[in-house]
Amino acid sequence: MTNIINNRRDFLKTSASGLVAGMLPVSLVRLSYAEDGGPDFTFAYISDSHIQHIEGNKFVRNWDRGLIRAVAEANLLEPKPDFVVFGGDLAQLGTKPELDHGAEILAGLNHETRVVLGEHDYYLDLGEYWSELYGDHYYSWDHKGVHFITLNSILTHDDWTYERWESPERRMNEMAGLDNPNGSPFMVGEKQLKWLQKDLKKVAKNTPIVIFSHSPLQKIYKGWNFWTEEAEDIHKMLSPFDKVNVIYGHVHQIQYNQIDNIAFTSVMATAWPWPYPESYAQAESHLPILTVPMNRADPFNERDATGWQFMNVHTGRVDLQFNLYNNTNRTVAFNEEKGHPEDTSFSDPTQRTATQRHY
Ligand SMILES: [Fe+2]
Ligand SMILES: [Fe+2]
Repeated sequence: MTNIINNRRDFLKTSASGLVAGMLPVSLVRLSYAEDGGPDFTFAYISDSHIQHIEGNKFVRNWDRGLIRAVAEANLLEPKPDFVVFGGDLAQLGTKPELDHGAEILAGLNHETRVVLGEHDYYLDLGEYWSELYGDHYYSWDHKGVHFITLNSILTHDDWTYERWESPERRMNEMAGLDNPNGSPFMVGEKQLKWLQKDLKKVAKNTPIVIFSHSPLQKIYKGWNFWTEEAEDIHKMLSPFDKVNVIYGHVHQIQYNQIDNIAFTSVMATAWPWPYPESYAQAESHLPILTVPMNRADPFNERDATGWQFMNVHTGRVDLQFNLYNNTNRTVAFNEEKGHPEDTSFSDPTQRTATQRHY
């Protein structure tokens, strides 16, 4: 803990872009839109707690502790964030005890909280109990000159959802499996696409947009649903806007990407890290389609992609500093000249850690 506090102080001292702060496992995002005349503000991000019920009043302790710690850290943040986002997968199997227990921990936040729906929250009762706790599955709002949109990006084909499985429990288990051939690709669905189009009509083209989704709004790796089926349609709708940022959970690892005018950044999970698809699958066809080459650490190190991160959304673009356990810190910053985020320490291909070959 001492180390974390020292690192944090050092970073605050040396940061050229002003205050951007967060501590494990919270991300604090600073929005700085001076050129548009809007006031600066911050918000925090917590994601993927996967609260898992064992029996009676017993839950998997590690996942509990991850979320409890994140809530405690978020309450200590200075400056106080304007709100906190929870990025989805509050529960592991979507049961009432899991959602209740997760909600009880989240209720400890001393901040207004916005919640994103994850597949683990949804596929048991199709979001019914989650809605009692948190309301609409998708919505938008404006805050200090920024248009925020929360999407439900974990829907799938109706026949898979309504006709394929003999019980809701089976449906939930099938969708919860990571490398499961019985799964089905994530979608936002036609109804929500129409809603998004209508919502964007009222937004000025120079208004910065920040979208929160659970799955990436891009096609990275279908087998694990690091994927949104209508990604291209959504990108097209967003193409007229100057500054668009998508922040997503679900992947439990560091990812960043740039597709045309949209900068994508993942946030880490409070539960556990996933390895990178390339290293896991060892198959050419499973390589993620990313426009910016990423350095990777050892995906078989259980602490890879767990840690804490600073985020700075400066003049509409996202900069992150990742602080990884057992690893060199990494900074991913938006390069205005190149027009995409890049890993400032590892962009030279000769400096990248070689892909691990464990098979
Ligand atoms: Fe998750
Ligand atoms: Fe997920």
